Amino acid sequence: MSLAAKNIFVTGGLGFIGSHTVLTLLEHGATVHLIDNLSNSFPRVWDHMKKLAGDKADKMKYTECDINDKEGLTKIFDAETFDCVIHFAGFKAVGESVDKPLEYYRNNFVGTVVLLEVMRAHGLKNVRRVEYKILDRRAGDSVAVWAATETAEKELGWKSKYNVDDMCKHQWAWASKYPQGYETPL
Ligand SMILES: NC(=O)c1ccc[n+]([C@@H]2O[C@H](COP(=O)([O-])OP(=O)(O)OC[C@H]3O[C@@H](n4cnc5c(N)ncnc54)[C@H](O)[C@@H]3O)[C@@H](O)[C@H]2O)c1
Repeated sequence: MSLAAKNIFVTGGLGFIGSHTVLTLLEHGATVHLIDNLSNSFPRVWDHMKKLAGDKADKMKYTECDINDKEGLTKIFDAETFDCVIHFAGFKAVGESVDKPLEYYRNNFVGTVVLLEVMRAHGLKNVRRVEYKILDRRAGDSVAVWAATETAEKELGWKSKYNVDDMCKHQWAWASKYPQGYETPL
């Protein structure tokens, strides 16, 4: 699908997966409006993204907004027409979800319902099947550290190409480049 001239709404756009997705969408010609409530990110990520986007930076827009904020979402959807929505906003720490189940249900489940209600109210109601292909591992994908991977290989034909040493090297390279993490001056 060509993304040229598509306007895409991304939730959790300052998160790990969201920020990478937004930049990839820009590379493919899309325009992106992303939201984040900064519960697990920093405004500085937006500065990094603008820098990485280069001359495509004016194709993305950020609004600080919570997916549970129906009024805030409605304001955004009233002002713009989106071709599709990619939803990454959520809490995802397994241990914490056991300690704080209600917070997780409210944020992830109730928040998604609020988002879907606003989308439906604005005519974005076709939940499309995501087409996928199972391909070779991508450079940089981490291997499973804690569990044996035989089942994945046996049942899915997935075999790790990178090991823990490679992961450590990649992490070290990132940490060396950004010694203060997201707080590292640009
Ligand atoms: N990281 C992975 O390897 C991985 C793998 C598979 C699936 N996922 C899923 O992808 C999604 C994003 O994961 P991630 O690793 O990028 O997490 P992340 O925590 O880095 O990103 C989530 C972003 O959403 C924001 N957010 C959380 N609740 C919000 C709310 N109510 N309103 C607006 N913004 C909110 C956070 O501030 C954060 O920036 C999660 O649903 C996660 O389960 C992640």
